[in-house]
Amino acid sequence: MRISDQEMMLKTDLPFDKAPPYRIKAVEYTIPTTREKRKEIMKKHGYSGRLLPAKYVFINMVTDSGTGALSDRQWSAMMEGDESYFYCRSFEFFEESVQKFTGMPYVFPSHQGRSSEAPIYEVLVKAGDKIPSNTHFTTTSAWSFQRGAEPVDFVCKDYLDENNRGWFKGNMDVKAFEEYFIQHAEKIPLVELVVPNNLNGGQAVSMENIREVRKVIDKYKKIDTQFYLDIARISENAWMIKAHEPGYADKTCLEIVNEMLSHADGCHMSAKKTGMVNMGGFIALRDKKVWQKMQPKVIRTDGYITYGGLSGRDLESLAVGLIEGVNDYYLQDRQRQVDYFANACKKRGVHILEPAACFAVYINAGKCLPHLDHTQGPATCLSAQAYIEGGFASTAMDSLQRGRIDPANPLDVSKRTKAPYELIRCAMPRRVYFEPHYDWAAECLARAMAWGDKLPGFKPIADDRPPLEMSEIGLHTFFDDYEPVFPLP
Ligand SMILES: Cc1ncc(COP(=O)(O)O)c(C=O)c1O
Repeated sequence: MRISDQEMMLKTDLPFDKAPPYRIKAVEYTIPTTREKRKEIMKKHGYSGRLLPAKYVFINMVTDSGTGALSDRQWSAMMEGDESYFYCRSFEFFEESVQKFTGMPYVFPSHQGRSSEAPIYEVLVKAGDKIPSNTHFTTTSAWSFQRGAEPVDFVCKDYLDENNRGWFKGNMDVKAFEEYFIQHAEKIPLVELVVPNNLNGGQAVSMENIREVRKVIDKYKKIDTQFYLDIARISENAWMIKAHEPGYADKTCLEIVNEMLSHADGCHMSAKKTGMVNMGGFIALRDKKVWQKMQPKVIRTDGYITYGGLSGRDLESLAVGLIEGVNDYYLQDRQRQVDYFANACKKRGVHILEPAACFAVYINAGKCLPHLDHTQGPATCLSAQAYIEGGFASTAMDSLQRGRIDPANPLDVSKRTKAPYELIRCAMPRRVYFEPHYDWAAECLARAMAWGDKLPGFKPIADDRPPLEMSEIGLHTFFDDYEPVFPLP
């Protein structure tokens, strides 16, 4: 018999604040490499963590998306997957779990986050609309453009202040949003909050901020403006609220998730993060009419409305993982691991963006390599060198990699938008690595940083692919490759 959700939450005096509340059953090997080999691999694969063959990566923090380890509970549930096409038994289990998690009655499974965004944008958004957010994820931004609408980000000022140590720097700047909303209300069918704010240092969003955004919408809306949360990592955000927002210490993270979503009309989730699955996602919403309008769109792109591109066993795994990923003991340990890695970096003099996020540590590469400016890719460089030092892979999110805005001039780096920080995201897969790995990852970054001005700037490699459409420009970050202006040490 599997351990039940209730048993996993029993009161305890065990040291779950110091060690994970689980043990390991299966392990995964990688191919041993040497420094020379890693140099060769980096060069061949465009000096980008995203393009590296994973088999040659010792510690892989390129992403936390779909990279977690499944539990015994998930594997055993998968054996019970019902693979009937229409309305399989696994859908009922999945639907119940999503309803419990979101408090919303209408649910669609989807094969991942971006496919759940598709019907939402198709149904709610049209040309000329404006879609405010704290900071759109790359794909909701691309969906907005694809519909002929404009994504607009209201980044809070605390995030832009490097010395600010607030816990909720992922918040939307409500004052700026309010002014904008009053001016454009009839063109705003959808407002999105990303919780936590992945593209802005993974910073968390407070309950108060969610409440305030709702209030602005209710007070000034001129059309049926829908308020949706992008909840890929909502459980980890809930932990930050529990730990740091007054009034939440005695609530469970599931209760906090429920409350966060009680302010929203709908949500979409890439369940590959706190849903604890390798593939999967969903939409949940309150309005039956909107749900009905989405049905044909889901069928056109993702399959039938009760499987949404997922097999029965995937639905089972997601139904279990969603509740496992919001377990307080597990989340407490996850934050402990993030903090451990953040401290391992700081101890070695590697500059991080403070505070550490709830799922990743973002390295302030601009500060680590001050001799490189924003057009020279300091994060691209540090991330590539850290791989050479010791097989540690991460994601550079600097102006060079994220700021391409001119489809006609892909190589002109002077036309790239300057990011507030030149960041490397070290996203932590769930239930995969432990302290010695985090120490080694920090060591790789420190050794890379120690080369100082012996490290080169980077430039994009000549691009002979067809020019990108303006609406797709943000997606270049997933496939562009780079080269150093002189060889890496
Ligand atoms: C905040 C956020 N929203 C949406 C997505 C898209 O999800 P997926 O990769 O499952 O399509 C991601 C993916 O990383 C994300 O971080």
